Amino acid sequence: MAARTITSSEVLRARFEAHAQAWIAALPALALYAPMAYLMRLPAKRVRPMAVLMGCELFGGDHSTALDEALGIELFHNFTLMHDDIMDAAPLRRGQPTVHAKWDVNTAILSGDAMLVKAYQLMGRHPKVLALFSAHALGVCEGQQLDMEFEARRDVRVEEYLEMIRLKTAVLLRCALQTGALVAGASEEETARLGTFGEELGLAFQLRDDLLDAFGDPAKVGKQQGGDLRAGKKTWILIRALELSDAAGRSELREELARSSSERDVPRMLGVLHELDLPALAAGELDRHHQKAMAALEAVAVPDERKETLRALAGALLERSN
Ligand code: IPE
Ligand code: MG
Ligand code: MG
Ligand code: MG
Repeated sequence: MAARTITSSEVLRARFEAHAQAWIAALPALALYAPMAYLMRLPAKRVRPMAVLMGCELFGGDHSTALDEALGIELFHNFTLMHDDIMDAAPLRRGQPTVHAKWDVNTAILSGDAMLVKAYQLMGRHPKVLALFSAHALGVCEGQQLDMEFEARRDVRVEEYLEMIRLKTAVLLRCALQTGALVAGASEEETARLGTFGEELGLAFQLRDDLLDAFGDPAKVGKQQGGDLRAGKKTWILIRALELSDAAGRSELREELARSSSERDVPRMLGVLHELDLPALAAGELDRHHQKAMAALEAVAVPDERKETLRALAGALLERSN
């Protein structure tokens, strides 16, 4: 039998989108499911489900056997966003009102809960996938807890920040890729290598998210500009900026952080970050993680041409403007 050829990103995306839209259309016509359908229908990058399908094909699997798991991961991701937007008091998601803003907080809590249950239903077909998913989903909650704790702290170190984003963001990308690998029947060793790629890519991805939050074009990003600074989020950018401004004897950032979030002068903070060259410094950090990710992908023992779609996914993620 000829080796299975790899499916293009465009085809994978179309297959996933058709699968997801059919699933959404079949949801009961009850108020509980309306916010779920609303959020899942907003145009999105679909990074994690693509990672599931590509992880499956990397090891010679047929992507159509992993569509349910791809949907499960995307549902879980959207559930975390629905609750994250409450926690971050975010008005916009994907350029549209967030669920708690459009409906109310209680609706977003309950609809999010239902999404988590739905995600579990889809992730339960293979025992190994279910165990992997449970462990990583808990990691996301641990990361979100740290993210909240850090808002109120003045002394967060870069290493603590990296551990926080590893948990809140990177582990789900690891989980997505490894889910695909498990569905395809990959060995434990190769599944672990692919996990390292996912985690380093996830760190770079979150650094890009932080960069865009501060310096991106809000029309493209679809979120409030400087929302992280307003909330006092201890991102890599803010932590490094505090270190540099303390060393230079500057006090603007500390002054702004001492104010309540509604009184914080975000444009003033952004001005300081630019003067301290943070956009370039953060881009350098992002690049270091990108390179580690690519080295981990190179180490996966499969024919090189099967890695093309994952290479392209990684490139697109790190160059993204939204
Ligand atoms: C959210 O991190 C991570 C999870 C939802 C688990 P952020 O709070 O930085 O994400 P955005 O910027 O709102 O998308
Ligand atoms: Mg958020
Ligand atoms: Mg958050
Ligand atoms: Mg963010």
